[in-house]
Order: sequence, then structure tokens, then C-alpha cells
Amino acid sequence: MLEAILLVGGQGTRLRPLTISTPKPMLPVAGFACTEHQIALAREAGVRRIILGTSYRAEVFEEYFGHGETFGVELVYAVEDEPLGTGGAIRNAATHLTCGQNDPVLVFNGDVLTGLDIAGLVQKWRDANADVALYLTCVEDPRPYGLVPTDAKGRVLEFREKPITPEEIVTDQINAGCYVFKRSVIDAIPSDRPVSVERETFPELLAANRMVLGVVDDGYWLDLGTPLAFAKGSADLVLGIAPSPLLVGRTGEALIEASAQVDSSASIIGGTYVGHNAVIGAGAVITGSVIFADVEVGSDSRITNSIVSTAAKISSDCQIVDTVIAERAQIGIGVTLDPGTLVFPDDTVN
Ligand code: GDD
Ligand code: MG
Repeated sequence: MLEAILLVGGQGTRLRPLTISTPKPMLPVAGFACTEHQIALAREAGVRRIILGTSYRAEVFEEYFGHGETFGVELVYAVEDEPLGTGGAIRNAATHLTCGQNDPVLVFNGDVLTGLDIAGLVQKWRDANADVALYLTCVEDPRPYGLVPTDAKGRVLEFREKPITPEEIVTDQINAGCYVFKRSVIDAIPSDRPVSVERETFPELLAANRMVLGVVDDGYWLDLGTPLAFAKGSADLVLGIAPSPLLVGRTGEALIEASAQVDSSASIIGGTYVGHNAVIGAGAVITGSVIFADVEVGSDSRITNSIVSTAAKISSDCQIVDTVIAERAQIGIGVTLDPGTLVFPDDTVN
């Protein structure tokens, strides 16, 4: 049996104000928390026991997932009083592992949307007798990520987290935030202080000439770290561009919860998700957006590539593009918001 560790303790700073009350991995993408999509993917690959490494707003995860009874996996919580960083969180979670020292452990960043072939990654780890196998993907702009050049056989040559100078950009292959570790490698991470797996553990393993394998997978991949990425990820799931076991047979132009009331003259398209009890008025056009539960959208308002959080109210004739509206905020009649606007919880914009 394969065990997994999910890293879900980050602050989600770039997703404020949405992450003031809800940790990033718990925000609904296409109606399910990102973590839920990941649990389903891991379960499909045979994982039956998952340790959630939590810190920021740890209680929210346990309230929602319990011990995993309804998710088909056993969930265990490893809570950090102070954030331990990615490596420290993995080490802390490992105290709950039951597998042997030479067994594989799957590790996932909690904000990554992917259809990765997990079983395939584990097999490649095994075939290469690797200490760690890293899932890699190629992106146009690698700067916000960990750069991972490899040799012809896939052996990792270097790990450069978030390069700054142009000379540092040596590849477009990046760390996609999913790893298979040999258990003993995790147990060797220091347990008494914060550790970054990207800035410390991986570079140290490479310096010690340990076998770190990079596995490039060109399937769907997205880091849900920013509001626009978050809206895109949700839309891609709804449209069926991003795969998820939770949405099989439910993909299309829109995903609308049965309790939502959408006027028949409204147009809900481009992968928009409409949450429970939301009310959408006549002539409204909502494209590529995420509408949380209990939201009201007035008649003839247009919302594009945006996120409208729980119980927010958008009046009629509003124009909203590339915007984040936090919970319970109110937008007055006829307001046009500049792209990139962030409206904070309970705020009113007129
Ligand atoms: N438990 C715990 N404790 N989790 C943490 C902590 C911590 O102190 N710090 C971060 N995490 C979790 C976050 O919740 C997230 O799921 C994951 O670790 C990665 O943190 P991010 O803050 O999202 O990092 P990033 O997106 O800037 O960069 C990481 O992901 C990229 C791919 O998406 C790095 O791993 C990069 O190398 C990688 O390319
Ligand atoms: Mg991230």
C-alpha cells in the first residue's frame, strides 16, 4: 500500500483576500476543494492512507474531511504549531507513516491541479532505484517555480528555486510539486527547525550525489497560487480540459449546483461554476468564473474570469473582469471594476 503526504499548510498569501478565512487548498475549484481533487487522484492510483501536513487554519481541514470516511481513504493530520516549511512539514508528517525505510512515499503540494499518472511516477522511481523522483513539467515562464535541469537519462543536475537573474534561467523544466521519496530520505530531514525541501533538501541530495530523478509529464498541470490561475483551474476542470475523477461525466460549458437559481435568459459559459443557492438574474453573462455559494448576481451584469466568494452581492449592470470579490462584499448598481481589483470581505463598492 502506498502512503501519501499532502502539504497544505501554506498561508496562500497571493490569494488574499480569499484565504483570510479559508486556506488555499480548501478553496473550491469546480465545486470541490483542490485537496479533494488530489485525494481522488491519489485514491485512483491506489493510495489508501494520506497524511495532511497542516499549519495555517489547520482546523478547517479536519472539519471538512474528518478521518476520510466519505472520501475512501484514511486521513491523518500532522499539525505544525509554527509553519515548518515544505521539508519540515514532510518530516513532521512522516512520524505518522507506517511503511518501511525503503518504501516509496508520495508527496504532493496542496495547490497543484494535475492529472499526473501517479502509479507511473512510482514505477519510474522504482526502476531507477532513486532516492527521490520529481514530477516535472515545462512552462513558458519558469521564474516563479523551482527550475530542474536534467541529463539525457532524467537525472536531476540542479535544483534552483525561484531564480532571479536571467543567467539562472537554464531550463523551462520546473518542479511540478509532486514527489516520490524513499522513506529513509524523509527521515533524514532535520526535525527540530523549519526546512525548505526546495532550497535545502534537494540541493543537499544533489551535492551528495544521491539519485534524484526528474520525470517530465506533459499532461495538464497548473499551480493555483494566484487568483487568475485559480479561476482558470476551475474553468479548465468544468470544461474537461483539466482531468479530475470527481467530474467524470459532469463537464461542459458550466457546472451549476441544483440548488442555484439561474434565470433562463442568463448565460453561464466558459467553464463557470455556480455554487449552492446562488441566484443569477436575467441577462447576466458569466464567463470562466467561480461563483461561490449564496452569491447574488443582478440582472445584465457581466462577470469574466473572476472569483466571487460566499454570499457576496453583485447588483445589476456591473462589469467585472479578472477580479476577486471576497465573502459578503457588496457591489452597487452599474459599477465597473478595474481588472485586478481585490474586494475585501464585507466591503461595499459603489
Ligand atoms: N504544512 C506546511 N507547512 N505546508 C506548507 C508550508 C509549511 O510551512 N509552506 C508551504 N506549504 C505548502 C503550501 O500549502 C503548498 O501546498 C505547498 O506547500 C507549496 O507551497 P507554495 O507556497 O504554494 O509554493 P510555490 O507555489 O511558491 O512553489 C512550490 O510549488 C511550485 C509548483 O507549484 C515549489 O515547490 C516550487 O519548486 C514548485 O515549482
Ligand atoms: Mg504553489
